[in-house]
Amino acid sequence: HHSDAYRAWLGYRRIAPGERYNQYELYSSIVISEQDDRIHAAATELSRGIEGLLGQPAPLSDYRNGDACIALGTFGHSAAIDEVFQDEALAKIGPEGYVIRTNSTLRCIAIGASSSAGIVYGVFHLLRLLALGIDVEALDIAENPVNRLRMINQWDNMDGSVERGYAGRSIFFADNRITWDSERIRDYARLLASSGVNAISINNVNVHRVESKLVTTQFLPDVAKLADIFRLYGIRLFLSVNYASPLEVGGLSTADPLDTTVREWWRTQVAEVYAAIPDFGGLLVKADSENRPGPFTYGRDHADGSNMLAEALKPYGGVVIWRCFVYNCKQDWRDRKTDRARAAYDHFKPLDGKFMDNVILQVKNGPIDFQVREPVSPLFGAMEATNQMIEFQITQEYTGQQRHVCYLVPQWKEVLEFDTLIKGDGSSVKRVVDGSFHGNAHSGFAAVSNIGDDENWTGHLLAQANLYGYGRLAWNPELSAEAIAEEWIRLSFGGDEQLVHTIRDILMSSWGIYESYTAPLGIGFMVNPDHHYGPNVDGYEYSMWGTYHFADCHGIGVDRTKATGTGYTAQYAGANMEQYDSPANCPDELLLFFHHVPYTHRLQSGKTVIQSIYDTHFEGAERAEGLKASWELLEGKMDRELHRQVADRLAEQATHAREWRDQINTYFYRKSGIVDQAGRLIY
Ligand code: GCU
Repeated sequence: HHSDAYRAWLGYRRIAPGERYNQYELYSSIVISEQDDRIHAAATELSRGIEGLLGQPAPLSDYRNGDACIALGTFGHSAAIDEVFQDEALAKIGPEGYVIRTNSTLRCIAIGASSSAGIVYGVFHLLRLLALGIDVEALDIAENPVNRLRMINQWDNMDGSVERGYAGRSIFFADNRITWDSERIRDYARLLASSGVNAISINNVNVHRVESKLVTTQFLPDVAKLADIFRLYGIRLFLSVNYASPLEVGGLSTADPLDTTVREWWRTQVAEVYAAIPDFGGLLVKADSENRPGPFTYGRDHADGSNMLAEALKPYGGVVIWRCFVYNCKQDWRDRKTDRARAAYDHFKPLDGKFMDNVILQVKNGPIDFQVREPVSPLFGAMEATNQMIEFQITQEYTGQQRHVCYLVPQWKEVLEFDTLIKGDGSSVKRVVDGSFHGNAHSGFAAVSNIGDDENWTGHLLAQANLYGYGRLAWNPELSAEAIAEEWIRLSFGGDEQLVHTIRDILMSSWGIYESYTAPLGIGFMVNPDHHYGPNVDGYEYSMWGTYHFADCHGIGVDRTKATGTGYTAQYAGANMEQYDSPANCPDELLLFFHHVPYTHRLQSGKTVIQSIYDTHFEGAERAEGLKASWELLEGKMDRELHRQVADRLAEQATHAREWRDQINTYFYRKSGIVDQAGRLIY
C-alpha cells in the first residue's frame, strides 16, 4: 500500500526476467542458523528484497549441504558460513564489516560477519547489487566501514515539530509523547541501515522542558522501545540532553559540573538510562550555545562540563558528544572585532588534552553555519589529543529548504578532501574524522536529518539522495558524489539510461546552481531572519548574530586577515593560512568570506566582483529555469504523480531563483552605481 516514494531506495522493483540472474535457483532459499533477532531481521529483508526484485519467493530454510541458498551467519556459529569462509582474510573483518562470497561448488552465496550488525550491512549490500543488476555469480567482497560513528541527529521536538524540518512533522513524537507509528520508524531504521548509518539521536539539540525528561523513568520505557526497533538494524540510540537538567528536572539549586550533588544526579540518571537500554550510545549536548545553558554559568569550561557527563557514562561504554557551535549570539553589529567564525577554535583549541577519552567534540563543517559555501572549520585536526567528529546538515536550512533541489554530497566531499596541512600534506579532514590522523578511539560523522512524516520522507523527492548519500559517504568517504547519485537513481527509479543521466546531471549541477543565484562569493546569509528562506540582503546586517556582509557604496566582504582584519586566517595552517590571507590568492568562491574589497576588485577569473555578481545571478536563475526543461524529458519514464511532484518544486525553484537574482543584483547595483556590462535588466 506504500508508494514508490515511501519505499525510497528500498523499493526492490522487479528486474525484467531474463535481464539478469537466470539462475534463480541460487536465490530460492535463505539459510540462517543462529537465533538472533537482528540476523532474523536481515534474513526477512533479504527475502522481501528477492521476492520484489526477482518475483519469486525466497523462504527461510534449514541448511542442507548441496542445496542452493544464500547463507547468513557470524563466523564460528554457522555450518554453511564456516564451510565457505575458511581463510585468513576473515581476520580483516572488523566489528561491523562483512564478507560476501559466491561459492559455485556449494551453490551458495554466503554473507559472513563477526557480528550480527555486519550481517545487516552485508544483506543490504547484496540487495543493492541485485537491484543494480550487477553480476553476483562470482562475488568476493570484503567491506569494513571507514568511520566508526555514522550518526544521524534528529532535531525533533516532542510536540511533533521539527526544528529546521521541511518534510512534515516528526515521525517520533506528537503531543509531548513518543508516537507509536512503529512501522514507519522501522522503515526509517531500514533506510538508515541500508545506507550505512549506525547511530541516531532522536531529539533536538535544543532540549526544551518536556524533552529534558527523556532521560527519566517517565519516558525511558518508551525510549527503550524505540531503541529496540533501531537495535534490530544495528543502530544505537542517543539522546540530546539539557545541561541544566539537574535544576530543571532534578530540583537541585545548581547545575555546576564540579558540584558533587550535580555529578551524583547525572550518575543516577545515566544508570537509569542504561537499566532501560543496555546498549545506549550516549548523550549529545549543545551547551553555552544560542542561549542554551552550559558550564559558563558557573565559571567552568567545556572540559569540566563534558567530563562530568563522560564520567557518568564511562562505566557503561557510553560517549558524550559535545557540540562546538559556541559563539556570542548577542554581538553588537557595530563591533567589528568580534568574529563569529573564530569562536569555535578560540573556545576549544586551548582545552586540547583536557577531555576524557569518551568525549567527542562535534564540529560543524564550516565555522559559521551550514551555508552553501564556507571554508572548512579550522578546528579539524587542530586538537591532537581530543576526539573529533564532523557535523553536516542534510536538512536544507540554508540550501533551499527542500523546495529547491540541492544535492549536497559534492559539498561534503570537498570538505572531507580539504587538506588542513596541520602535519604537512596528507592531513585531510577525512583522516581527522576517521580517527587515523591522530589515532583517536572515537570519531566519525554526524548530520542533521532531513526527514519528516511526509509520504516521501524528505518533502522534495530528490532530497532523498542527500540522506542516502550521507550514509554511503560516512561508510566510505572515497565514494564519488557522482557514483552515489547514480546508485540512488537506479535503486529508486530503475535503470532507464536517459532517466539515469538526466537525474544525475540535475543532481550534480544543483549545488552550483543554488550557489550562483544566492549570496555571492562565500559571503553567506542574506536570507530572511528566523525562517531563513528567500533573499533578504540586509536581513541579518544589523542583528546580533554575527553574520554580516558590510556592503557599502565602495565594496563588500569581511576582513578576516591578520594585518587589518579579525585574524581568523591565522587559525589555518601553513599554505592555507597564506592563501586565505591574501586577496590575490584567496579562491574566488571564498573571497568575500575573508576579504573586504571594492566592487571593482578583479577576481582570479578576470572579472570584477560586481560583474561576477551580475553574471552568476543571471546565469544561476537561467540554469534553474533549465532544470524544469530537463525534468520534462522524464515524463512517462516514471510514476506520473512523482514526476509531477518534482516538476512543481522545480517550477517554484525557478520562480524563487528569479527573485533571488533580482534582489541581489538590484541591491548591489543601487549600492555601487556600477552598470552591468551586458546591459541586462536590473531594477
Ligand atoms: C542553526 C539553526 C538552529 C540550530 C542551530 C544549531 O543556527 O538555525 O535552528 O539550533 O543551528 O546547530 O544548534
